[in-house]
Amino acid sequence: MDGLIVHDVRNANGSIHFRVVGSLLRSHLPNLHPGIHQTVVDTFASELMSGGKTFNEWTSVRIFPMVKNLIRTTNSLVFFGKDLTNDAEYLKALLQYPEDVVSTSEVLRFTPTFLAPVVASIMMRRGRAVKHLVKSLLPVVEQRMKRNSQDSEQMDIFQWMIGSSPKKSPWLATKIVQVTLGLWFGSIHQPAMAIVYALYDLCQHPQYIEALREEMTRCEENKTGDPFEEMVLLDSFLKESARFSPSDSRELPKLRLAKLPFENPSIDTVSVSLRRKAIAPYTFTDGLSVKFGDVACVPMRAMMRDESKYPNARTFDGYRFVTDSQRDSVAKLTDVETKFPIWGYGRRAW
Ligand code: HEM
Repeated sequence: MDGLIVHDVRNANGSIHFRVVGSLLRSHLPNLHPGIHQTVVDTFASELMSGGKTFNEWTSVRIFPMVKNLIRTTNSLVFFGKDLTNDAEYLKALLQYPEDVVSTSEVLRFTPTFLAPVVASIMMRRGRAVKHLVKSLLPVVEQRMKRNSQDSEQMDIFQWMIGSSPKKSPWLATKIVQVTLGLWFGSIHQPAMAIVYALYDLCQHPQYIEALREEMTRCEENKTGDPFEEMVLLDSFLKESARFSPSDSRELPKLRLAKLPFENPSIDTVSVSLRRKAIAPYTFTDGLSVKFGDVACVPMRAMMRDESKYPNARTFDGYRFVTDSQRDSVAKLTDVETKFPIWGYGRRAW
């Protein structure tokens, strides 16, 4: 990857990104919230104004590109700070790079090994996007590394990567860029899918709009504690949306908001998740065995539509996970649990 080396062995890539995302990012979210909020507001406004067809007071937008732009701008702020947000080529590369990697990896699965380097190079457009990202990001890291790495004014993933780099043998700037771009790759697609489905659900069930607005306004005004902790309906709605359309679904429909109302398009797509390729023959405790090279998956959609766990499982119920009296016993959207594996399983889940 443009001179950057990604090791197949997991630990060889280091583990500071686990600390950065799992701990530092989480603890700084309240401070980042105002910037994220403003970015979301601005991006929505500019996307809605940018050339979609208008009918009376409605504007048609292509929802997936719009949401990807939204995720890109907010994630870019959280990952790299404000410095680069005016560079159009860099912003384009931020989306192009993960898309190139995904399409290339799919094509490589069916490519003979001897042709792989040539095909990969063509599919990755000779690394144009990643080269541009490295060219833009490397000087930023190098400059920041020269300053105090614990620079408290800077609050973004880049800075925490620099600050968390081992003191005895600090990471080179190239490695910081490499690992951060790896994280970046993981940070685009899933959130974008989750938001698209939540927007579809909101459009299909507009009765939640007012209730959600009311809850958000009330919780934002109540300045005691973290407002998000109090937004039980929002949490439940998003969790139900994730249950109804686990975002690992196979395809995203080409629908436009203007065509509303419509059936929830995700209903018949297939979803498996958490793929694991066996690197040695293995027998599970129930006797099921897999051979070398087999891929084991979690049947996410089937689990999420299991009537014994979710009564009326094929009906969207935004209040499904709101139970006021025993709120503490109901897992939140962001909790990692085996029954609801949208974040993955066990200690490897984020
Ligand atoms: C709605 C949002 C998201 C969903 C539903 C989601 C879901 C998942 C799932 C199912 C996995 C596979 C876990 C496994 O195989 O056990 C995964 C892995 C991963 N995700 Fe996410 N993710 C989301 C957002 C993010 C974000 C924002 C980031 C980065 C800031 C991120 C970074 C990663 C990374 C680095 C991995 C690989 C972890 C590993 O190899 O152990 N994800 N995610």
